[in-house]
Amino acid sequence: MNPPQIFDSLAEQYDDSFTRSTIAQYLRGIVQARLERHFTSGMRVLELGCGTGEDALWLANRGVSVIATDVSEGMLATTRTKCQHQPLIQIERLDLRALPAPHPTDALLDGIFSNFGPVNCLQEWDTLAAWSAQRVNTGGIVALGVMSPACLWEPVWHGLHGNFKTATRRWRQNARFTLPDTPHPIPINYPSIRRITRAFSPHFTVRFVRGIGLFLPPSDVYGVIETRPRLLHLLLRLEERFGGIRQLALLADHYWIEFERR
Ligand SMILES: C[S@@+](CC[C@H](N)C(=O)[O-])C[C@H]1O[C@@H](n2cnc3c(N)ncnc32)[C@H](O)[C@@H]1O
Repeated sequence: MNPPQIFDSLAEQYDDSFTRSTIAQYLRGIVQARLERHFTSGMRVLELGCGTGEDALWLANRGVSVIATDVSEGMLATTRTKCQHQPLIQIERLDLRALPAPHPTDALLDGIFSNFGPVNCLQEWDTLAAWSAQRVNTGGIVALGVMSPACLWEPVWHGLHGNFKTATRRWRQNARFTLPDTPHPIPINYPSIRRITRAFSPHFTVRFVRGIGLFLPPSDVYGVIETRPRLLHLLLRLEERFGGIRQLALLADHYWIEFERR
């Protein structure tokens, strides 16, 4: 199975199983607070791997025009239904592994963003960086939520449960990742902050880095934590207090990195 087909099969229940969970809502709130700093009413941005359009809709409701893209027709269909009342959202299929040559008449964008891991489907990030440089205005922002190679939760949790293959999956090149509720693993890579920065450095300067999910676990453990309210409350407080420390970003489930176009 290809990534698009796997995500197609997830699309219908993605909002119930992920988007509306307490932990995902909290983490998305952190990302949206960052998006809000850069993207304001009247701006035009591109989203890569939009999933069910949650962030696109949130930005459009604040007056930002969003081109929401994804490889999965199933995800795009859900986005279309959810965003049909919102004229500021344009929905297109775009595969990050086959980025189209920018058209000379394309207007430059104020920014590009991608939340919760779509860029982990790539084997290298230089192509995305060069492509983004052609599409974004000087001073524009590219902001990426990337699954980290050194997430602390994964080896600790799965190691304690004796599942050593899953515990160490992020340490392998060309790893395979099985999403909750899907039987087929997808090929995935976990670039370090240094690797992504190197790819973007010819055209962009790093402006901000933080972890997303340092104390809060990866999505396959949400259920276990969310049924224990006191533990959840404690982890939310720890995330609030210490989750933003830049030096700890690589240890989180995802890191959020922002580049400014020079
Ligand atoms: C974990 S979901 C995140 C969705 C959304 N950004 C969010 O915040 O909920 C990852 C998304 O990346 C998309 N994706 C995976 N591989 C892709 C590719 N090669 N090109 C574009 N999108 C891709 C999937 O279809 C899926 O919608």
